[in-house]
Formats: sequence, structure tokens, C-alpha cells
Amino acid sequence: MSALELVTQYAQVALTHLPEPAQQFLRNSATQKTLGAIAALGLVRATNRFISQRALQNWTSNDPWNPARELILLTGGCSGIGKQVMEDLARAGLRVIILDINEPNFDLPANVFFYKANITDSGDIAEVAKAIRANHGEPTVLVNNAGVGHDGTILEEPEAKIRQTFEVNTLSHFLMVKEFLPAMIKANHGHIVTVASMASFVALGEMVDYCCSKASALAFHEGLRQELRHWYHAPKVRTSVIHPLWVRTPMIHLLTENEAQFNQPIMTPQVVSDAICKQIVSQTSGQVILPARQSAASLVRAMPTWLQESVRTYASGSLKRMRDAQAALVKAQ
Ligand SMILES: NC(=O)c1ccc[n+]([C@@H]2O[C@H](COP(=O)([O-])OP(=O)(O)OC[C@H]3O[C@@H](n4cnc5c(N)ncnc54)[C@H](O)[C@@H]3O)[C@@H](O)[C@H]2O)c1
Repeated sequence: MSALELVTQYAQVALTHLPEPAQQFLRNSATQKTLGAIAALGLVRATNRFISQRALQNWTSNDPWNPARELILLTGGCSGIGKQVMEDLARAGLRVIILDINEPNFDLPANVFFYKANITDSGDIAEVAKAIRANHGEPTVLVNNAGVGHDGTILEEPEAKIRQTFEVNTLSHFLMVKEFLPAMIKANHGHIVTVASMASFVALGEMVDYCCSKASALAFHEGLRQELRHWYHAPKVRTSVIHPLWVRTPMIHLLTENEAQFNQPIMTPQVVSDAICKQIVSQTSGQVILPARQSAASLVRAMPTWLQESVRTYASGSLKRMRDAQAALVKAQ
């Protein structure tokens, strides 16, 4: 007897144990067609997920996870999301190096080391890389997390701030990868994590430079994957890109201080850290949108233009309302 016949036989027997109305409902041909369609859809989704996952891993399997082999290099680890990631990885027993332009204002766990560097300066990176290699060895995981965000429209924002946004949020990824990727390629082992943003998909008013820089960070991640596979022949070097919506950190203090007018859901850094740590520890490449229920954000540019405009108008609306409320307050004083 084939497996299918066996399953059908068990299903028939199970059916006889159900109350009569339930049996009638399940024997109805429309019900059976609907259930068949749902099962087929489930199978298609599971197959799609499986193929995507394998493709992201370049059809290669992981080496066994060995925490002692790993050295995590995390930029912007002194604040917000980076600080949370540092704490969580340290708690998991991993060795972590944080690179930040600012000194930590907290005690470092025993397995965490701080190096001061401006990640937009290749000279600074080279110098600190020398010290890291001498003291700890080659990093196996690079988390490009440091970022800046300034407020102001295109016409208001000073040129220096616009340039800084691109330098920290995009250009530094090139500089960091130039310094630390070659060793990962040589070992065909490693992970580059790009902390982008939901702004990679949806450009808002008053954040245009930031949105451009995060769309670039996504393109950086996608192109890096291609080079790793087809140019550097290092298919086991994993790549992940993380796209959080609003996160309660010092970066968005203007929004959190005016939360009533802003009126958008804001996640904790823990949610983002959990996702980043999961990618690292599972050695899995991926694109992670947070919160997950907003994953359709990546489809925005495939929507009809009027719908795209509505999404952007809705998203910009919160910022605009908050600004208008602030301006009204200042005027009233
Ligand atoms: N907070 C949010 O709502 C949000 C949403 C989506 C994505 N993100 C992204 O998450 C990442 C972390 O942001 P955060 O919210 O934790 O911000 P944060 O301001 O709390 O932390 C950023 C860290 O980066 C460091 N840094 C800035 N410029 C640097 C430089 N030139 N060299 C070295 N270090 C530098 C800062 O000193 C700081 O420690 C950023 O890439 C940000 O764009 C944040």
C-alpha cells in the first residue's frame, strides 16, 4: 500500500469518529476542494520558503557553530541598538569588539572590548584594525550598525549633515568591508550584517538624506552578496540586512519626546537585537523586516503609483503633524 493510500485510509477512519454534522461538512465536495486548495497553498509557501532559504545560503551548508571561533566586530556599540546587541552577544559568551566614535559610558562585560574609531575615516579604521588583529585576531562577523539621522527638509538641512549621513550610513560600509572582508573570504567563513532601515523602502519628507543612505545600504548588501558568490568564490560568507521601523534609541529622541503627536509604534532595541543575534548565531543569511507584520514594505515599489504615494504620504504624515504641532507651540509662546 502506498503512503498516500495509507494516509487516506487513516483519514477515513478518523472521520468516522467525528460527530455526524462534522462528517457531512468534511465529505462535502466544496469543503474538500477548499481544504485541498489551502493544503496546496501551504505546500507552495513552504517550498518557496525552503528554496529562498537555500538560495540565500548559496546552496551551501553551515560549518558547525563554534562560539570560540567567532569574533564579532560591531560598529556603534555604545548606544541604542548596538549596545543592546553587544550585551546580548556578550551574555551568550561571544567575544565582541565595539567600534564607536564615542567612549562607552557604561562598564564593559569581560568578553567585550572597546576601540575608538571614526568609521568614516579609512586611516582610523586601518589603525584600529591593526590593534584588533594583534590583540584578538581576525573578526569573523562584522555588524555595520553605526548610523546617524538628522532632521530637516532638503532645503533646510546643512550640507555637512547631509554628507555625514551618507558617510556614516553608506560609505563606511565600503570602508569596513574593504578592511575586514578579505580574511573572511580567505577562510570562506564569516558574516556581514547591514543594519539598514524601513527607510530603505519608503522615502519620507524631512529624512530624505537618511532614506537615500539606507536605500544605498540595501543595495550595498545585495551587491556584496553577488560579489561574494561570483567574484570572490566565498559562498559560505553569510550576509544579512535588517530593516527596523522606529526603535526607541537616542537617534530618534525628537520623536520619542513628542510621541503623542508622532503617534507611530516604536519598538524596543531588544526586538532588533534579538533578530540580529538570531542571524549571527544561526549563521543564516537573510533580509529581516521589523516588525515582521510590516514585511510587505519591501513590495511598496511594485505597487501602483497612487498606492505608493499613499503609503509615503501616510508615513510622512506623522512627521509633518509632529513638526506642525511643535511650530504651533513655539508660535504660542
Ligand atoms: N532608532 C531607530 O528608529 C532606527 C530605525 C531603523 C534603523 N536604525 C538604524 O540602527 C542603527 C543604530 O542606530 P541607533 O538607533 O541605535 O542610534 P544611536 O544614535 O543610539 O547609536 C548610534 C551609534 O553609532 C555611533 N556612531 C555614529 N557615527 C559614528 C562614526 N562616524 N564612527 C563610529 N561610530 C559612530 C554613535 O556614537 C552611537 O553610539 C543605525 O544604523 C540606524 O540608522 C535606527
